[in-house]
Amino acid sequence: MPEAVTHIDPVDLSDSRAYVPGVPHPYLAELRRHDPVHWTEEADGPGYWAVTKYDDCVTVNRDYERFSSQRKGTMPFELSDDEIAQQSLMMLNMDPPLHTRYRRLVNKGFTPRMVRDLEASIHRTADRIIDSVCEKGEADFVTEISAELPLQVIAELLGVPHDERHRMFDWSNRMVGSEDPEYHVTPEDALVAAMELYGYASELFAKKRIDPHGDLMSVLTQVEIEGQRLSDVELELFFLLLTVAGNETTRNLMSGAMHAFFQFPDQWRLLLESPSLLPTAAEEMLRFVTPVMNFRRTATCDLELRGTPIKEGAKVVFFHASANRDEDVFDRPDELDVRRDPNPHIAFGGGGPHFCLGANLARMEIQVMYRHLLERLPDIHQNGDVERLQSRFINGVKHLPVAFTPSAPLGQA
Ligand code: HEM
Repeated sequence: MPEAVTHIDPVDLSDSRAYVPGVPHPYLAELRRHDPVHWTEEADGPGYWAVTKYDDCVTVNRDYERFSSQRKGTMPFELSDDEIAQQSLMMLNMDPPLHTRYRRLVNKGFTPRMVRDLEASIHRTADRIIDSVCEKGEADFVTEISAELPLQVIAELLGVPHDERHRMFDWSNRMVGSEDPEYHVTPEDALVAAMELYGYASELFAKKRIDPHGDLMSVLTQVEIEGQRLSDVELELFFLLLTVAGNETTRNLMSGAMHAFFQFPDQWRLLLESPSLLPTAAEEMLRFVTPVMNFRRTATCDLELRGTPIKEGAKVVFFHASANRDEDVFDRPDELDVRRDPNPHIAFGGGGPHFCLGANLARMEIQVMYRHLLERLPDIHQNGDVERLQSRFINGVKHLPVAFTPSAPLGQA
């Protein structure tokens, strides 16, 4: 039997407020040591098994037969039956073989070439973003720098025309951050925003069926495997999934990484001297920040995990944020080390069927944005208090004041 947790005050992992001061890493480390499959009571749910060791997180992530995404969805918080029914149409919340069919269709559009083709536009967007702040010498890193890039990239990927993008941004902002009081988003508001986005997506597909271009959504309206195509509803849900999955994650990665560099300034200096370290640095930013802290699964049978019996139907939440600091896998796990290699982090998933579809796109966005930051704002530093998102799911930063030596815009936009 694991020893009781004794050294650190317990943290209520199911309370979104517990994450505002920061991911509770000392407590997660204590759980890994003493109670790696930890029963967590919930005020607003049935309670769950919190899985914190790297190997166990990988097992839960890969073993979809025993740990289902479909039964109750993948969000760590409780959803109503209506919400579960609606979310079950999204690939993130499907199990094989249904998921496999869907993923094969979507993969046909989401090719490495499609990602490569976006690179030039990502460079232009990064320059335009820095142009918009560089003369001022200060900015809110989140709202003025890291929020814009992922939104523009997804709009470009999906083929949303420039003059319609602001509507998409508004819907996606209203759909996320709903646990945080600053955004005043009620579940009803989020649902209205989602419905508006579906309506818009359906109009866009109708146009792309008649007049297809090279973008992902045009391709997806045409793809076929063994005579099967994606239905209108599936296309709309995929549009919504990409808007949410590709947006908050990448934004919070870039913001969280900037904050981490302020805590480890020697690592920023190292990157300034050797930008060729960007590929390993991007992996380390992903490990260190881990924007998606956890996901939920539901046990499909009575089973045992690391000797702990788990009943059929039990809620299981596995913590990527903890796995990525597991001292059995990573040396000095609480230090940011841009040269870390190998770096088998599971920020994009632990190799199961849902492994992040946008991983390579996100990697490219991170490297491009940071290349431009290193070149154009080399002396960037913190200029006020960081404000973190209230969420038990996303490791988020809402505001991060920064300052740097003012410079002239490049004006290439
Ligand atoms: C730093 C950025 C990102 C992080 C940390 C991240 C993380 C994740 C994680 C943890 C999963 C679930 C993996 C699993 O359960 O095995 C996931 C799935 C997914 N991600 Fe990402 N993601 C990021 C960026 C993106 C981007 C840019 C896109 C698309 C434009 C995207 C699209 C998706 C989709 C569609 C899925 C569902 C795949 C499936 O169910 O088969 N993600 N992501």
